[in-house]
Amino acid sequence: MNTHEQGFDGRRILVSGASSGIGRAIAIELLQHGARVVLLGRRKEKLEETAQLSGIPEHAEVAVQDLTCLEGIGPAVNEMSARLGRFYGLCHCAGVVQTLPLAASKPERVRAMLNLNFVAGLELARAIIQRDVLAESGGSILWITSIYAHVGAPGQIGYCASKGAITAAVRAMALELAGRKVRVNCISPGLVRTEMTEAENSRMSKEQWARIASLHPLGVGEPRDVARAAVFMLDPNNRWITGSDLVVDGGYTLQ
Ligand SMILES: NC(=O)c1ccc[n+]([C@@H]2O[C@H](COP(=O)([O-])OP(=O)(O)OC[C@H]3O[C@@H](n4cnc5c(N)ncnc54)[C@H](OP(=O)(O)O)[C@@H]3O)[C@@H](O)[C@H]2O)c1
Repeated sequence: MNTHEQGFDGRRILVSGASSGIGRAIAIELLQHGARVVLLGRRKEKLEETAQLSGIPEHAEVAVQDLTCLEGIGPAVNEMSARLGRFYGLCHCAGVVQTLPLAASKPERVRAMLNLNFVAGLELARAIIQRDVLAESGGSILWITSIYAHVGAPGQIGYCASKGAITAAVRAMALELAGRKVRVNCISPGLVRTEMTEAENSRMSKEQWARIASLHPLGVGEPRDVARAAVFMLDPNNRWITGSDLVVDGGYTLQ
């Protein structure tokens, strides 16, 4: 057993978006480092696959939940904590991206991104920090935002806004929750190969994709590159890190 495994010591963490890509890799990495993980997403079979891939399915719990139903989030977290026990942490990784130029950025389309990427995470955080849900010794909340919280891109107005909202809110949340020993941080990944980017990729020409990839000095990332950083940020031993935004982008934003 390494020191990380001792670090999580069976603490319970909810990971949204655990059915694919970055969220799946984070869930697997956390399970392999000794956490108990609630795997949340809409696709049950994919969540079960995540549990199996970790090699420790008995420490994983599948929670099928559509986070666009915001009213369902609080009751679902309450039900889980009553049944499973208190939570130590949350990683909000579920997200969507839609490329929309300004002219196409109609309220309902922008709201769909804001709701899932930001408001649903806030609802999860609000539910988890309840006094009878959160571990008495404190906790850790991690958001997966994006380099698009830091830099712009044409057609990404709504997505950039949804990720920027997270980065700003993390600072306020970190200050508000410090007294309860709850740390709040975010990670801003660059381009990572996942279902999300494969879908974007299929809409781009080979040259467009190659151009974006070439802007990452260390190349395009893999989900595990972000997952390793997520484990570090959530690790209870890293007790003095709060309000941070860890950029994990292979050097993209250095230029
Ligand atoms: N890939 C990148 O290059 C990149 C870069 C920077 C930031 N990010 C961010 O990283 C996060 C994960 O992205 P990814 O690339 O891993 O994407 P992905 O492979 O498409 O995964 C998205 C996850 O979100 C879940 N999800 C989507 N809609 C949901 C809903 N209504 N309710 C509950 N869960 C829902 C999906 O699960 P179900 O379909 O099972 O519901 C899936 O597990 C996102 O927040 C994204 O913005 C990604």
